[in-house]
Amino acid sequence: MKVGILTGGGDCPGLNAVIRAVVRKGVFHYKDEFVGFLEGWRGVQENKTQPLDLSSVGGILPRGGTILRTSRTNPGKHENGLTRCIENLKNNKVDALVAIGGDDTISVALRLHEMGVKVVGVPKTIDNDLSGTDFTFGFDTAVNVATSAIDRVHTTAEAHNRVMVVEVMGRDSGWIAMYSGIAGGADVILIPEKPFDIEEVAETIRLRHARGRYFSIVVVAEGAKFASDMDRQHGAPVVNNLGTDEFGHARLGGIGNILAREIERLTGFETRAVVLGHIQRGGSPSAFDRVLATRYGIGAIDMVHRGEFGCMAALRGNKIVSVSLAEAIGANRKVDQDLIDVAVGILDKLKDTDKTDKTKEAKETVSR
Ligand code: F6P
Repeated sequence: MKVGILTGGGDCPGLNAVIRAVVRKGVFHYKDEFVGFLEGWRGVQENKTQPLDLSSVGGILPRGGTILRTSRTNPGKHENGLTRCIENLKNNKVDALVAIGGDDTISVALRLHEMGVKVVGVPKTIDNDLSGTDFTFGFDTAVNVATSAIDRVHTTAEAHNRVMVVEVMGRDSGWIAMYSGIAGGADVILIPEKPFDIEEVAETIRLRHARGRYFSIVVVAEGAKFASDMDRQHGAPVVNNLGTDEFGHARLGGIGNILAREIERLTGFETRAVVLGHIQRGGSPSAFDRVLATRYGIGAIDMVHRGEFGCMAALRGNKIVSVSLAEAIGANRKVDQDLIDVAVGILDKLKDTDKTDKTKEAKETVSR
């Protein structure tokens, strides 16, 4: 078969590992030929291609980014965009297409499949918010980066008696904030799923400091929202510029600085913010992501040869299975209550009276 491959949406560590696995198994096992479409759906729409063979995937396993580059192009928003994609797939004699991407890329794959294109999806996003799969590749690397940043922020917060706010990615779901917050021992974790009351955040920090702790760590997902109108954001996420991309997404970012300012105003504790941004998406994939991406790549090319089109490779438990593209984009996958309960379970739950005792105890320990 001749198989096309593209990577769409925000890049993430492990994209090259998927491409490598698809090509290697395709060539060695099925005698396939490959063509790479450059810059996501833009390459299919505008016929920008690159040959893909064993030599072009040599040495790319540990490399971040994507050798096919990427974009947030939505052919559904361009004149005849989808039909141009279909024509270019025919011109390149492509029998099947492997589309590696998040909900936006997969939504275009579904539309093309409904128009007759033989397409298989692979779930990619550091946000880990695609339905139908337990984990997307790229998430583990992002969590590792965020956790080591929180560890570093801890020591400087401790040295200066400061509150430090760490802003991590996560547009609609707070998976990165939750995992890195738990792994990094954060005192407050704020996620898009649960709009927060700034007064409650301030009180948590005040109580912690009242019992003798002199620094605090807050982890906030970029898509987290203030709950009340009092906080000027009126329940909307903080954006750092106006306008949206071709899939209608605003460019988020900035909540960390606003939060730091409000915490300092309400508690009187010196507070600083750190925004991790694209550092979470760059660099070499973790071992877990390299293995997961390789398993997805093998799963996808096997699905192509089993004729399972309109489907996406997915991880369920410890098995790679096939789910429909419609299921994958049906709903954004939210942080589940079990994980929220874990985070809440380790939070400071002392009653006020206990806190007074603890404060006394802490002071005595310090003076001793
Ligand atoms: O979709 C993944 C993601 O990293 C989100 O967490 C973030 O909001 C967005 O991409 C940023 O996209 P861009 O790199 O296009 O600014």
